Amino acid sequence: MALRTVVVPAAGLGTRFLPATKTVPKELLPVVDTPGIELIAREAAQAGATRLAVVTAPRKQGVMAFFDRDELLEETLEARGKTDQLEKVRAVNGMINAVSVNQERPLGLGHAIACAESTLDDDEDCFAVMLPDDLVLPFGVMNEMARIRRRYGGTVLCGFEVPEEDVSNYGVFEIADAGDGDPTVRRVTGMVEKPDVADAPSNIVATGRYLLDRSIFDALRRTEPGKGGEIQITDAIALLIGEGHPVHVYIHRGGRHDLGNPGGFIRACVDFALNDPAYGPSLQEWLTSRLSEDAVSYAGVTD
Ligand code: UTP
Repeated sequence: MALRTVVVPAAGLGTRFLPATKTVPKELLPVVDTPGIELIAREAAQAGATRLAVVTAPRKQGVMAFFDRDELLEETLEARGKTDQLEKVRAVNGMINAVSVNQERPLGLGHAIACAESTLDDDEDCFAVMLPDDLVLPFGVMNEMARIRRRYGGTVLCGFEVPEEDVSNYGVFEIADAGDGDPTVRRVTGMVEKPDVADAPSNIVATGRYLLDRSIFDALRRTEPGKGGEIQITDAIALLIGEGHPVHVYIHRGGRHDLGNPGGFIRACVDFALNDPAYGPSLQEWLTSRLSEDAVSYAGVTD
């Protein structure tokens, strides 16, 4: 069955981005000028999904407001002939049907996903999850993951190869040969959260893209709170693996930006801005002079 629903968990506290995230949801922070939530909506629409189930918290209503039409703004831009800006504002209109799912308290990623169960149609046997603070580039990995589900059934995750010394920052896959000679697919036999380098079962780490079989909801109901007292999606997937449910990983060879912390977010902004004809050339020039040996920086001198 074709993918219909993408669940976007966006109810977290965003503590790594405080103080900004006290009032601005991190999903609305702009990569150059486009919020992460719009980039995810674009990726979901390109994967063929028609419904974006955005899991938000009562204190983060601005995330859903981003999908509302602002007719006064559009009329004003039109009357002033600001066609470029009008096009940018309208881009999200009709891109995908965004529906809101409430997660009262941040009880974990697994709990957030479980909250979205009632948005699925009765005949949907799988759905995707895309984490809005994880940019997986170029778009299109979900199509590859759907291809793997058509072949093997079950659940498909997305992995990324990192240098061995970096594995301790990530969830790491324990993998086995899938048996079909396809270098982009492995069978998942387990997962380890942030292992020591010496204990890491592989150097394939998890990204924020999941193609989940509907049976995950039943597994989530049976999953006890884990690390940090939260319901973890990896624990529910581990439960399914233990019961013989097929779980595979697509090994993505492209790029990735972690928008969930200032360091990763800045890299994404610089990467996107350097490719932008409006900002790229002058940014490049400024970066080159800023990085030269005799550059003087006044950054942080605010007292
Ligand atoms: P993260 O742990 O990366 O995001 O969760 P966070 O909790 O917002 O950020 P920090 O760690 O405090 O800085 C991954 C994704 O899951 C969502 C988050 O919004 C993020 O998109 N999430 C997490 C929920 O929707 N609900 C939760 O209870 C936890």
